[in-house]
Amino acid sequence: RTIDSLGDLAGKRVFVRSDFNVPLDADRNITDDGRIRAALPTLKRLIDAGAKVIVSAHLGRPKGEVKPEFSLAPVAARLTELLAQDVALAGDTVGEDAKARAAALEDGQVLLLENVRFDKREDSKVDADRESLAAEYASLADAFVSDGFGVVHRKQASVYDIAKLLPSAAGELVFKEIDSLSRATQNPERPYTVVLGGSKVSDKIGVIDNLLDKADRLLIGGGMAFTFLKALGYEIGTSLLEADQVDTAASYIERAKANGVTLLLPTDVVVAPEFKADSPASVVSADSIPADQMGLDIGPKSGTAYADAIKDSKTIVWNGPMGVFEFEAFAAGTKAVAQALEDGDGFSIVGGGDSAAAVRNLGFNESKFSHISTGGGASLEFLEGKELPGIAVLED
Ligand code: 3PG
Repeated sequence: RTIDSLGDLAGKRVFVRSDFNVPLDADRNITDDGRIRAALPTLKRLIDAGAKVIVSAHLGRPKGEVKPEFSLAPVAARLTELLAQDVALAGDTVGEDAKARAAALEDGQVLLLENVRFDKREDSKVDADRESLAAEYASLADAFVSDGFGVVHRKQASVYDIAKLLPSAAGELVFKEIDSLSRATQNPERPYTVVLGGSKVSDKIGVIDNLLDKADRLLIGGGMAFTFLKALGYEIGTSLLEADQVDTAASYIERAKANGVTLLLPTDVVVAPEFKADSPASVVSADSIPADQMGLDIGPKSGTAYADAIKDSKTIVWNGPMGVFEFEAFAAGTKAVAQALEDGDGFSIVGGGDSAAAVRNLGFNESKFSHISTGGGASLEFLEGKELPGIAVLED
């Protein structure tokens, strides 16, 4: 259901769930505001419609406790700048201050509630707990707009339960995400290439499992590549290894062969003795990683091979960096992949907070990518073909 289905919103109170789970540095400065900017179309639309806008979001995992380091204050300040109008932050999530401020809103004004995860009922496994909190949220508003795509895979009070209590709709961002991600899940234009990185195979099992029946090419990089190299029987030095996933990785290598999926693993690797920005780096063949070295990036030959596979693809999904891109010496693999996506003319989807941050922080031109998803786990679960509770509840 679209925002249109909610009818005339002038003077109405609208409770919006956004995903403002943004990275902060030690001084609590936002280091990547992509998720906040992605929320603007819905917020502007509601402001223009004359609604009284009550926005909710989580930041981190404060586990039901009020902790100042998880306050949404930096987000309220950034929203104030981006919307060019004051966005007040309530002193609590759904307490006296939130209620008083929500009641005092004027048409077109925006209020941000404090971190929903300060209330332990928000992500409780007990339905009645979440429902009681959702009832309190619902008492603040006349309608609900779900726009936090990054959190639609969570069955939580402000994402799921509230939608059962108020006239509800999906916001602009949720629609855009579903539209773009569906280009990969429903009849993707071929060749369809998936590039997976990041540290853990275990985080990506569901998606690899699903894609081995769908993609034409699967390119593996990042820390998870070493578990695959181990499955090939290579020694991997002190590189990251998930010993309990080696058999799974081996079974994926076999299944790729059986299904005719081209599985590319790094053939060369950038290694260093330590996980440090200035640790002396060298390039070695993937089958001869020295015992005292760890792989921290894919090597240049692998980068070129991956870039070639990406450039002649018609649909590309990229999730997870190829190496420790935060350190200049180990950023080349991630840059090669991002550059190939920027240069190619296929439909390119970047998913996962880290790869989206890599695109922005390494200076790539966001507009050259077809879609940069705001979802981490949510976009992976979507690509896995799982039902996402925060979307399913809007369809019921
Ligand atoms: C994310 O960062 O992927 C979303 O904001 C969800 O956060 P969560 O994994 O803490 O639920």
